Amino acid sequence: MAETALPIPKHVAVIMDGNGRWAMNRGAPRHWGHREGSKSVRAVVRGCRALGVGYLTLYAFSLANWARPRVEVTALMRLLVRFARREVAELREKGISVGTIGRIEDLPPVTRRAIDQLMDQTKDGKDMRLTLALSYSGRYDVARAARQAAELVAQGKLRPEEVDDKWIRSHLWTAELPDPDLVIRTGGEQRSSDFLPYESVYSEFHYPPELWPDFSEDHLKAAIQWYQSRERRFGKTSAQVRGQMPA
Ligand code: FPP
Repeated sequence: MAETALPIPKHVAVIMDGNGRWAMNRGAPRHWGHREGSKSVRAVVRGCRALGVGYLTLYAFSLANWARPRVEVTALMRLLVRFARREVAELREKGISVGTIGRIEDLPPVTRRAIDQLMDQTKDGKDMRLTLALSYSGRYDVARAARQAAELVAQGKLRPEEVDDKWIRSHLWTAELPDPDLVIRTGGEQRSSDFLPYESVYSEFHYPPELWPDFSEDHLKAAIQWYQSRERRFGKTSAQVRGQMPA
């Protein structure tokens, strides 16, 4: 590990890409990849909990994903129900609370109920927060906050000069979460796909080549080691962050 090793990231966010390719490489329908990908979800949740990561956010379904074939969307919605029912006991036992970001109201009632129940049954978890991004779009979220500000200004309840970064940040779905330190996108593609655009301006982005169903706890550890070798500057110079110059 590097001499200036950073601590374990407080917030890890993951774009779980490559399920479809994993399945198609095996001549199987795409939703098989999602099912297999649920096993990686379990491994990464366990791994983050064991390493002491405080917040894990998973991009499980984007607002744009509704345009996928119906059979795939239905399979994903069912997988979420299965995940909620199967994992609740372990999540509770490990002190992990579950939350969501996104247009949860878009989910089919059965999925929404299962997720609501999971959130309720895990609400006392104090050791880690697992956030599922569902029907999520970062741009939509920023536009939503801007619209809210405009409405309050029009009603005379907010002054335009009060609308600053802090105001916007506290009106996003992610208001309760710290900014992600590390964003991992599996599958080799290097883009952020509308995931936490406002929150990730100073995040370290890591792009391991493994397809999501192949991503294991060891790959997670490797990603965190890579993160620990980075120097985070937050706009300052290298000398400043190393304490060789006045801050
Ligand atoms: C992107 O891979 C992945 C998704 C759109 C869904 C991710 C969902 C899961 C891993 C399972 C369910 C989630 C939970 C939390 C239980 P892709 O299909 O776009 O892959 P491709 O790029 O190979 O086509």
